Amino acid sequence: MKKTKYNIAVFGATGLVGREMIEILGSRNFPVGSLYLFASEESAGELLEFKGSEYRVEQINEDSFKNKKIDIVLSSPGASASLKYSPLAAKEGAVVIDNTSYFRMDEDVPLVIPEVNPDDIKHYGKKNIIANPNCSTIQMLVPLKPIHDKYKIKRIVVSTYQSTSGAGKKAMDELFYQSANIINAKSDIFPEKFPVQIAFNCIPQIDIFSEDGYTKEESKMIKETHKIMHDKSIGVSPTAVRVPVFFCHGESINIETEKSFDIKDIKSLLSESRGVKVVDNILSDNPDERYPYPVMVNGFDDVYVGRIRRDLSIDNGLNLWVVADNVRKGAALNAVQIAEILISKYF
Ligand SMILES: NC(=O)c1ccc[n+]([C@@H]2O[C@H](COP(=O)([O-])OP(=O)(O)OC[C@H]3O[C@@H](n4cnc5c(N)ncnc54)[C@H](OP(=O)(O)O)[C@@H]3O)[C@@H](O)[C@H]2O)c1
Repeated sequence: MKKTKYNIAVFGATGLVGREMIEILGSRNFPVGSLYLFASEESAGELLEFKGSEYRVEQINEDSFKNKKIDIVLSSPGASASLKYSPLAAKEGAVVIDNTSYFRMDEDVPLVIPEVNPDDIKHYGKKNIIANPNCSTIQMLVPLKPIHDKYKIKRIVVSTYQSTSGAGKKAMDELFYQSANIINAKSDIFPEKFPVQIAFNCIPQIDIFSEDGYTKEESKMIKETHKIMHDKSIGVSPTAVRVPVFFCHGESINIETEKSFDIKDIKSLLSESRGVKVVDNILSDNPDERYPYPVMVNGFDDVYVGRIRRDLSIDNGLNLWVVADNVRKGAALNAVQIAEILISKYF
């Protein structure tokens, strides 16, 4: 008989993504039975609220998933912790939906954006792990999938404008303290999470460089696009930039399609697509109707698209400006949406 409630563990519960997952489980009325919250020694004992009750955060250990009959683990503790603990949870029978980069390219682990490739979830049983893509890949592919289905995308050139929350709570603190120090004429900058000063600056480096000159963040966007779209023929040319914004990533996306398109059809296709909101009235007196921007999109679920226009320099070229809440659709919401599909179709 189908269960009516599911035991859930949130691993990395005290982080930006973990906290958002707990909020989203509540606001979407996910049928939670028992809820377990895990983090490192640093925040063990902390109390977090879920639907009006307080839950104590436990320090993760090798026995944390034993004898609890956990159905789903929403995991976002960083790649090395996930590598250690996700397989232990999977061995105990839980399905792990993992936000870290560790399992994304594993052939036996589906990499899923519910609006793009929900059917891949059916392969979850190979390792009992499903991977959540990188936040920049998610917000790029949600609007590009319907365009690819109709007009076949040959090439994507993308520049990202990524907020500091994409690197976790300590990275946001770094932007805050550097900004405050500079405004107060103090010279203390001390970059730790970022390679150089992030306040009042833009940094064309996210993660480390590989020999080919691309950063790992950029390589993820290429490889994850091919895996999720099941199409290695799509050319992807990314430049990932960190900007001094707290929440929401922006992306300037240029694509070339195989088939010719009518720009009006692109606009209506995007307007009708699940998970996409078009804000593209550049002549409006109201600036909030002209185009989306990070402060507007913070806390919302959809991927917002504006500045939709032809690339006049080539045939079949299109430019888009795309903004999404990286902690929400780029991580926590995407994971909860996968969990919703799991319980409705596969459990
Ligand atoms: N932020 C985003 O927009 C975003 C988007 C997509 C994917 N992700 C991925 O999601 C993961 C978490 O990101 P975040 O932004 O939430 O980071 P965060 O704010 O730094 O939180 C990290 C969480 O993991 C826990 N943790 C860290 N190391 C641990 C360990 N060794 N053992 C147990 N728990 C550990 C931390 O616990 P303590 O509080 O005890 O330290 C905290 O709960 C990362 O892999 C990140 O790449 C993030």
